[in-house]
Amino acid sequence: MQKLFNEIASQNNDSTLKDFKDLKVEALDNFDLVFLGSACHHADLAPPVLKFVETIPESPKFKLAGFVTHSTYPPEGSDRHAEMFEQWGSKCSKTYEKLQTEKNIDYKSYFRCMGIPSKPIESFINAKIVTDDKEWAEYIEIVAKHPDEKDIENAKKFAKEIIKKC
Ligand SMILES: Cc1cc2nc3c(=O)[nH]c(=O)nc-3n(C[C@H](O)[C@H](O)[C@H](O)COP(=O)(O)O)c2cc1C
Repeated sequence: MQKLFNEIASQNNDSTLKDFKDLKVEALDNFDLVFLGSACHHADLAPPVLKFVETIPESPKFKLAGFVTHSTYPPEGSDRHAEMFEQWGSKCSKTYEKLQTEKNIDYKSYFRCMGIPSKPIESFINAKIVTDDKEWAEYIEIVAKHPDEKDIENAKKFAKEIIKKC
């Protein structure tokens, strides 16, 4: 996740990287564009990020883009991956979109890619989601590599395109 933060922030000479834990929501008004990143937890943005976005006032001055890492497969690969993503990752984009409709935020788009889970989450996924041995062996090899070079490249492209649109 940190790699993604750094790459996205480096796409503009005039950017500031903030940990939202140290950030007051009012401070966002000092920016034209905010990239709000989160790990996916419980199929949605992580709880502290959800709490933070609730405090964003209506019709803020800044434009918003999102980015997310998730340990489930992205949906594009197969019906199984799509099903898993629907259950374990699909609320993230909906939460960003809700900010647009409910808070009248000028929301641009979001970026997502896989991110390696911690050991306890890995165990949870193996026990509850990817329980088949063959599927697990393939999954764990793949997820361990993310975010990979391609993800970082795609994140850079995403950030550049959003900045160009603003
Ligand atoms: C409490 C918790 C819940 C999680 N729930 C999900 C989930 O529902 N779907 C998913 O794809 N990943 C889930 N994950 C995995 C995280 O998305 C993954 O660890 C994270 O994207 C990796 O980035 P990080 O190293 O910056 O945390 C969860 C992780 C934690 C700690």
